[in-house]
Amino acid sequence: MEVSKNLTSLKDNVVEFCNSRDDILGFCGRISKNLRYKSMLPQKQPVQKLVNKISAPKFPKTKNILDCIIRANYELKWNTTYSENEVGPDFIKRYGWFDLIGPNGPFFINSTRIMIGFWGENLDYQMHWHEAEEAYVPLAGSALFWSERNGKKIASVGDIVIHKSNEKHWTKMTNGFLLALAIWKGTDLGVNPTISSRDGTKIYEVKEKRD
Ligand SMILES: [Fe+2]
Repeated sequence: MEVSKNLTSLKDNVVEFCNSRDDILGFCGRISKNLRYKSMLPQKQPVQKLVNKISAPKFPKTKNILDCIIRANYELKWNTTYSENEVGPDFIKRYGWFDLIGPNGPFFINSTRIMIGFWGENLDYQMHWHEAEEAYVPLAGSALFWSERNGKKIASVGDIVIHKSNEKHWTKMTNGFLLALAIWKGTDLGVNPTISSRDGTKIYEVKEKRD
C-alpha cells in the first residue's frame, strides 16, 4: 500500500528533528529519510482523544511534529502493551504509544527503534526496565523522571533522558501530560519491559500482544 501524506510528513519531521539535535545524534546516529514502508492497520485507543487536545503552538520547537501526529492520529497503530492488572485501569485509558521507525516498521531500520508515547496528567509510570538502551525526548509537556544512574530530573522539550540497558527507571506525570519520543537501541529491540507492580511487591514480565 502507498504510504499516506500524513505518515510521510510525520516520519520526515521526526527524522529531521532527530538529525538536528547533537544529543540524539550522539545516542543513535544519523537516520535516513529514505526508509522502506509497510502499512500497519490503525488501532484505536482512548488516548487518541487526549492527543488531539495538545495545543501544538505552545511548543514551537516541536510544533511541526505535533501537528503531524494530530493529523495522522487515526492512521496510527496505538498500543498499550501493559495489562490493566499490571498498571491499573486509569493508566490504560490515558496512555498509549506507537512504533514509527524501526525493525517493527512502519518505516524500517534495524539498528534503532523510534516510538512515540503519551502519558496523561498525574499518571505514575511505575518502575520498569528493559534490555534496550533508551532515550526519552519530550515533544510536548514534561514529567519527573527517575533512574538508578540519573536520580530524579524534570525533563521537558529540549531535554533528553538516557537509560542504560536494564537500568531501572520510572516516570511521574506531576507537571501535566507528557508526549515523548522513546528511542531504543541495542541488540534485540523487540524485548519487552519488565515492570514492578504498583505497590512494588511483584514483578511482571510483559508479554506484548502481537498480530
Ligand atoms: Fe523505558
